[in-house]
Amino acid sequence: MSFFTLANLSYLVAAALFIFGLKRLQSPTTARSGNVMAAAGMALAIIVTLLETDFANWQLILVGAIIGALIGGVSAQAVQMTAMPQMVGIFNGFGGGASALVAISEFMRLLSPQLTMSNDSGVSIILGTLIGGVTFSGSMVAFAKLQGLMTGAPITWPLQKSLNSALLLAVLALGSYVVFFDQGNLTVFYVIIGLALVLGVTSVIPIGGADMPVVISLLNSYSGLAAAAAGFVVDNRVLIIAGSLVGASGLILTNIMCVGMNRSLANVLFGAVGTADVGAGGSVGAGAAAGTVRDVSAEEAGMILAYANSVIFVPGYGMAVAQAQHAVRELADVLKGRGVRVSYAIHPVAGRMPGHMNVLLAEANVPYDELFDMDDINDDFKNTTVAVVIGANDVVNPAARHDTTSPLYGMPILNVDESEHIIVLKRSMRAGFAGVENELFFHPKTMMLFGDAKNSVTKLVSEAKAA
Ligand code: TAP
Repeated sequence: MSFFTLANLSYLVAAALFIFGLKRLQSPTTARSGNVMAAAGMALAIIVTLLETDFANWQLILVGAIIGALIGGVSAQAVQMTAMPQMVGIFNGFGGGASALVAISEFMRLLSPQLTMSNDSGVSIILGTLIGGVTFSGSMVAFAKLQGLMTGAPITWPLQKSLNSALLLAVLALGSYVVFFDQGNLTVFYVIIGLALVLGVTSVIPIGGADMPVVISLLNSYSGLAAAAAGFVVDNRVLIIAGSLVGASGLILTNIMCVGMNRSLANVLFGAVGTADVGAGGSVGAGAAAGTVRDVSAEEAGMILAYANSVIFVPGYGMAVAQAQHAVRELADVLKGRGVRVSYAIHPVAGRMPGHMNVLLAEANVPYDELFDMDDINDDFKNTTVAVVIGANDVVNPAARHDTTSPLYGMPILNVDESEHIIVLKRSMRAGFAGVENELFFHPKTMMLFGDAKNSVTKLVSEAKAA
């Protein structure tokens, strides 16, 4: 068997490992092994690529790999769960930037008088530079917004969409010029790089901090497309496959998030919706829903829970902020010990990233069979003694069902208001992510247990034990 055939077979194995790895990411029980599988595929792809290129420049590659692995490893260990979206954002940006650099260096290499640029590689170089450049600068803006380094509010100006369309058309026109008419024109190529970077900034800056996680998922998809373009540039089959997989899965994830929020992608990208600070919440005045708020002591709430038949926990972003998941599992254990039926209702966009609640609860060793997706548990609330809302807000706001003026209108919500009693754990009456008042908090069945979710749940554990 020739080395070429062997290399292609190895690439096929690597591609299969990526696909099976991705498939395993679908469930928390198999996600870790899926990650390892995909990483093994990538290691195989790197080794074969190094062999294929006779280990050219391996010293430089090794130094780059060590520096990258150190930075990636240390930051992944250090990052808080709530800062995950911006971490993913910055990694996407580097991926896009790396692909753009591959395309740029190939353009420079082909400037040599002995070489000519074929139309195919020219087109790949321009696309790699465009998509990679947009991904890099767009992701940096997304990172800065989420990290609070710049305002998270949408920054808009007149003719924004026209400007972005003009920038895109200019890159495509200039790209055609340097590929088909004036191949060695470095000045025009530099203009293309500059315009791609500007387009990334002007595309992301009008999007509100609130919608940033969706944009990050979209930029993730772009980074895959940029990698696929880089694969065409350097003629590496496995890079094309890996890039296409990232591109497609990023798009699917973006769609899932949009459906979960009942928003179209166009509305996310061009709607300039969103509050300045993700999760900071706005203050709630005497709005339409204003009425009497009933607060409850931990002692009374613990008693209600201890004597319930069934309890559904509804985790949200506040549980992530408070890192209350371990205490919640402890409370569930105490209640189960008393014969209470316990389950968890997971809204598809609870928290700030897809699967946010599943990851936190898995970290606290909550049994997977107690976790239910919204559609599987929504009919159970009416037969439930107590729904305990832990730092969730928008995903339980009944206004989503009937208030056509609410930004949440049309978003599917958890039917918490149908349960017999509702206990809400949060620190204040402040709004959630969408910045709107929640009529659930004024519902006659609702009891508010104010305080940090972790402290409140810890108190509930002792009260339920003592009951
Ligand atoms: P939110 O509506 O954001 O509400 C979170 C609540 O947690 C806040 O009202 C806050 O109230 C409370 N909180 C914060 N820190 C707390 C703490 N230490 N202890 C107790 N409570 C605390 O959360 P949600 O219901 O999970 O909804 C998610 C929102 O994010 C949706 O609007 C969704 O569309 C959006 N979103 C989600 C995603 C994904 S993929 N998950 C992506 C983009 C956008 P206090 O300040 O009063 O404590």
